[in-house]
Amino acid sequence: MANKIQAIKGMNDLLPIAQKDFPITASFWQAFEQLTIQWLHDYGYQYIRTPILEPTGLFVRSIGEETDVVGKEMYTFDDYGESLSLRPEGTASCLRAAVEHNLLYNAPQKLWYTGPMFRHEKPQKGRYRQFHQLGVEALGFAGMDTDAEIIAMCADLWKRLGIANQVQLELNCLGNKEERLSHRAALVAYLQENQAILDEDSLRRMHTNPLRVLDTKNPALQEMANQAPRLADFLGEQSRQDYEQLKNILNALNIPFIENPRLVRGLDYYNATVFEWTTTALGAQGTICGGGRYDGLIEELGGKPTPSIGFAMGIERLLLLVQATGSLKTIENADVYAIYSGTDAMIPLLQAVQNLRLQNIAVRTHGADQKLAKQLQRADASGARFALIVGQDEAASNSVTLKDLRGDKGQVTIPAAELLNQYQQWTEC
Ligand code: HAM
Repeated sequence: MANKIQAIKGMNDLLPIAQKDFPITASFWQAFEQLTIQWLHDYGYQYIRTPILEPTGLFVRSIGEETDVVGKEMYTFDDYGESLSLRPEGTASCLRAAVEHNLLYNAPQKLWYTGPMFRHEKPQKGRYRQFHQLGVEALGFAGMDTDAEIIAMCADLWKRLGIANQVQLELNCLGNKEERLSHRAALVAYLQENQAILDEDSLRRMHTNPLRVLDTKNPALQEMANQAPRLADFLGEQSRQDYEQLKNILNALNIPFIENPRLVRGLDYYNATVFEWTTTALGAQGTICGGGRYDGLIEELGGKPTPSIGFAMGIERLLLLVQATGSLKTIENADVYAIYSGTDAMIPLLQAVQNLRLQNIAVRTHGADQKLAKQLQRADASGARFALIVGQDEAASNSVTLKDLRGDKGQVTIPAAELLNQYQQWTEC
């Protein structure tokens, strides 16, 4: 036999069955999708879909050349002279599309998207090279009411998924560009004073992305990071007021948060509000959702100045958490499992199945490859509520048998024309 070809490391198949290192099933994922479509509708977001490939320049310009995502993790290739990249996130593409198609011409937009994203990271539980995000972007909204609504919307979803007590909200304010620049100058000066103790990563980031130095996981650098100049001390009056207002609204909406002055996020386009939803239940990859304001980004991508905010959640991470601790019901089982034996029974069975399906009753079939008793076992194992049976006797008398597999209704043999009535009687009570 030829060698088996395997999927790329860090890229998962989604299957009807749970896999050892990727326990999410397709029906669980679909149940999540159904639930989120309703949720997004409730908040007035409209769906858009963009290509997974974009010109590399889109991500360089929006996410930033010095970020890990663009600098180290993008899948980039030359396409006959043009540099293209698999999208590492959805915000840049969403904004590109909004600007390209003039969606923002005379009205703000609330958009959502979902799909695969690609980052060449070291794979581990909850961190993949192809992963999926669900993101929303509120384009053209300057007020803190939108920041609060966006956060409240997440809190609502966590409730609907039964994980509200597993996650916490971390919040920070990054101020505006000038405020960040003066903080950055002070921070670089401070890091230079402490150069002797910095590790290799921090030395590299000191000039490229000094805020990220404060994100260091190195225990030996924690004290230095704690004492570093704080962005909060460089915020001007407007930024402070906005941040206070946002915190007041969140308090009024009973949404608890933790202020994390070191939260900077890994993408360069943010200003003012940034936030992350984190959990301790998933080990190292504990951020299930992140977002914030990016008031200057649309302009940088060629549009008019358009204050905006959004977030994206990692679906794999979120579903791992929901599976472990939440309460999402899957719709795995069919209503009816249909079985038959003998060639005379095939057509009557298929007619009965067709009648049920026309009434939106979910029916599973499996051919007549085994004896009736074996097929019944399979019907039972399928989780279906009823078995529909057409054997030789039923075929000869134009009847069908309906058997209750879960309750105490037993089984009845009835004329085929009465099947729907019988089914409705049994399912109504
Ligand atoms: P991000 O924090 O880079 O933000 O990604 C959002 C979420 O995607 C993360 O919180 C995490 O749950 C998930 N994620 C990221 N990388 C991986 C990975 N390698 N494997 C599995 N899950 C992952 C953004 O992408 C921004 N576009 C969010 C945003 C939208 N900001 C404003 N609007």
